[in-house]
Amino acid sequence: MSRDRRTHTCGALRAANIGQEVVLLGWAANVRDHGGCVFINLRDRYGITQIKADQADSAKLYQAAALIKPESVIKVVGVVIDRGTNRNPNMPTGEVEVELKEIEVLNPSKPVPFPIANEIDANEVTRLTYRYLDLRRPALMRNLVLRAQIVRQVRKYLDSQDFVEVETPILTKSTPEGARDYLVPSRVHPGEFYALPQSPQTFKQILMVAGLDRYYQIARCFRDEDLRADRQPEFSQIDIEVSFATPELMYEIVEGMLASVWKDVFDIDIPTPFPRIPYGEAMEKYGSDKPDLRFDLPLATITEVVAKSGFKVFSDVAEAGGVVTAMRVPNAESWSRKDLDGLTKVATENGAKGLAWFKIGADDWTGSAAKFLDEGVRQAMMDALSAEVGDLILVVADAAGPARQALGAIRLKVGDRLGLRPYDKWSFLWVTDFPMFEWDAAANRATAVHHPFTSPVLQDLDKLESAPLQCRARAYDVVLNGTELGGGSIRIHNRETQQRVFKALGLSEESARAKFGFLLDAFEYGAPPHGGVALGLDRMVMLITGASSIRDVIAFPKTTAASCLMTEAPSQADPAQLAELHLAVTKSS
Ligand code: AMO
Ligand code: AMP
Repeated sequence: MSRDRRTHTCGALRAANIGQEVVLLGWAANVRDHGGCVFINLRDRYGITQIKADQADSAKLYQAAALIKPESVIKVVGVVIDRGTNRNPNMPTGEVEVELKEIEVLNPSKPVPFPIANEIDANEVTRLTYRYLDLRRPALMRNLVLRAQIVRQVRKYLDSQDFVEVETPILTKSTPEGARDYLVPSRVHPGEFYALPQSPQTFKQILMVAGLDRYYQIARCFRDEDLRADRQPEFSQIDIEVSFATPELMYEIVEGMLASVWKDVFDIDIPTPFPRIPYGEAMEKYGSDKPDLRFDLPLATITEVVAKSGFKVFSDVAEAGGVVTAMRVPNAESWSRKDLDGLTKVATENGAKGLAWFKIGADDWTGSAAKFLDEGVRQAMMDALSAEVGDLILVVADAAGPARQALGAIRLKVGDRLGLRPYDKWSFLWVTDFPMFEWDAAANRATAVHHPFTSPVLQDLDKLESAPLQCRARAYDVVLNGTELGGGSIRIHNRETQQRVFKALGLSEESARAKFGFLLDAFEYGAPPHGGVALGLDRMVMLITGASSIRDVIAFPKTTAASCLMTEAPSQADPAQLAELHLAVTKSS
């Protein structure tokens, strides 16, 4: 047998291999000297195999094994033996171990800054700085492998549906998706810049004009925005566009794709079609445009019920045209003051002025404002919420937006507390009937809820000028377990409507021409009706793997300050390079 090549991976050996001579290559995960016998856990991407060096067999090998430093790369030649009564049922290779015959250190490791184990308390700065060590942890390695499996299945499904994968430019022009652009200076065009794409939106529409009919791409997108646990400055979309699309057709395609991924990864059949909820209903019932439907506990509007109550907070809000929204938490009368203070904090963090809570005792109500509510109001509240003795009622009174958003956020905390949000219960839905525009008070103008290329609902076309904020969009989001997985729309495909929408967004004709002239022109050469969608791949992998952060499913993620701690990007450019790019830096820290 050649001893140069590995014969098995570290995850491969089973009882059937007993007696064989094997060559294994991998990392010494740990080295345990049990006085007279050294055990090494040899690790690679595929698993862990235990190596045994017994002093009684060879003092020389025993000593060599004992000297191995953790995380060194080693080559081991040995014979597979039965572990007998020491079998480890928790390890796939736990029936056997390899009795050492030869050992070679291919490359020693310095002491590592944190142990390579799934459960570690190393801080994320250290982990990201030494990302190559972090990725050795089996949980992270598994995430990368699963991610590749998901992408493979997505491609397989879309290929089976006649989609054509097309790459679109990275050095391009601004593609507005609501974030800031990353700009790249041009050397050959002094003072001019490319923008990195926030999405391939305009290109995929142009591909429809070209007649490609069905496009997809695993597309890298770049957005300079405030980062959170589920956002990265560069991320990947499963980007799709379809000619002659209807919302129904898009739902079918996306549902088919997600069902095929869940079947492949979990071997489960997710029920389709997904439920659909209009945006207005989602906000009213769940206080969110991405409701978590793993559990029910809806919000109810009780403004009328408490408008005439003696509690000024409620009656004032009702009079001012605000909203009083409430939810019932069954059997939560025993929740502590600490629990309720925690929920009040969630309310204020989400922009509401406070949270009122009422416990329905057998004899009386208790709670922050119970004394202000008479018997009639109490009974009416219980009726409106189908509440019972022993329940807790949570109420927020405020302008509609903050009131619902705050109680929606509290609903999620309540779901957590009641254990109603297990990671492996899958609750998909479509949110439909979004408004076209929302008012940006700071900028004093309307902004697009989706993006400027989304078609208005045809009946609302005449509201584009007269009442833009009432105009509905032909847009839809796909939501999973309270996370927006993807969004899309039927697009505008004629110049006139597109110009009217640009105008509603406060874009002058000249600036629309300068930014999107190519698209407006293309619409005049036989643009088919079309629509599409994009799903956040990283978010999807995050939900599938149960990772708590999007950073755990991206090989080389950036911090919330948008830097890469391993490479130390971004970094300063040298003066010669700046000069070549016609740039002068006015401020550097
Ligand atoms: P949208 O902006 O909704 O739509 O993006 C689609 C999906 O991409 C994911 N996503 C992100 N993931 C990680 N980090 C980010 N910073 C980030 N931003 C967005 C989300 C989101 O649902 N062109 C349109 C799609 C279309 O209309 O076809 C678009 O980009 O999961
Ligand atoms: P206050 O009168 O401000 O002391 O509030 C009395 C109770 O009403 C406290 O429990 C507050 O948390 C609650 N509360 C105050 N503002 C609101 C609000 N906007 N919505 C619901 N409850 C509120």
